[in-house]
Amino acid sequence: MVNFDNALAAAANAVDRELEALLPATEELEHRLFDAMRYAVLGGGKRLRPFLVVAGGQLFDIEMAQSVRVAAAVELVHAYSLVHDDLPCMDDDDLRRGRPTVHVEFDEATAILAGDALLSLAFEVLADKRTSVDPRVRSDLVMALARAAGGHGMVGGQMLDLWAEENPMDESGIVRMQRLKTGEMIAFSGEAGAILARARTFERQALRMYAHDLGLAFQITDDLLDVEGTEAETGKSVGKDLAAGKATFVSILGVEAARERVRMLAQQATTHLEPFAGKADPLRALCEFVINRRS
Ligand code: IPE
Ligand code: IPE
Ligand code: MG
Ligand code: MG
Ligand code: MG
Repeated sequence: MVNFDNALAAAANAVDRELEALLPATEELEHRLFDAMRYAVLGGGKRLRPFLVVAGGQLFDIEMAQSVRVAAAVELVHAYSLVHDDLPCMDDDDLRRGRPTVHVEFDEATAILAGDALLSLAFEVLADKRTSVDPRVRSDLVMALARAAGGHGMVGGQMLDLWAEENPMDESGIVRMQRLKTGEMIAFSGEAGAILARARTFERQALRMYAHDLGLAFQITDDLLDVEGTEAETGKSVGKDLAAGKATFVSILGVEAARERVRMLAQQATTHLEPFAGKADPLRALCEFVINRRS
């Protein structure tokens, strides 16, 4: 059995090095923008999506250097989504990854611009030959990440999240919101290795389904941690969802049923890994991690 903590740390180190190389410190006139981008991206984080990209790539013996570039692109989009999510007009949070949020450390306009530039940089990374020499692979990656991040993905989910603060939402609405706001980016992370490998459709599909279930479980644990976690563990303010009137699994089902749902989804996620046999053990271990995480 793989040592999951070591594998997670190895993927995190590799993606950190790549991100540092993609975002060197600069003394140019517009350096404030790059200071804010570096602050948003290099300041910690579990690097769970990069781990998924790397572990998915390993199923197909993809070179680490390629997986890490895709992992960096995902993390750039994720970091941008957090910077904007924390803005006063959204969740109005002042703590992220144990430090002041970007708009607090810099200012709101800089936070918006830093987010915009992080999103653009992600696609620049994917479109570069160093990510794949095969132009079809590069265009598939760009297409899949654009879909995951956009209006029918993360951004659409964020819209529903805000809408649900003022409007009633039932369980199916919450599932839809969570799948979009968190699930699509995690689903892309899961299938990225299969895209890099030009794997067979059923393999790419299986990994997408695995990651979708995992992503939903991941967002429910995020909602549970907002209720049960501490600021010290999570590095962000807690108790905010209830105060903001956010619709979550916890708000409609209660803590116990939400926890049960996480277990059920994590179990369901592993059923999609059968075609990959023992090679998918790191992805199975990730399910355990998501069930038990405290940060
Ligand atoms: C937080 O994501 C936002 C959600 C989609 C739940 P993570 O919990 O992955 O945040 P970091 O990257 O570890 O800070
Ligand atoms: C954010 O969900 C999901 C994103 C797309 C950024 P949350 O608003 O619950 O994430 P946290 O709790 O602030 O990390
Ligand atoms: Mg939010
Ligand atoms: Mg938030
Ligand atoms: Mg949350």
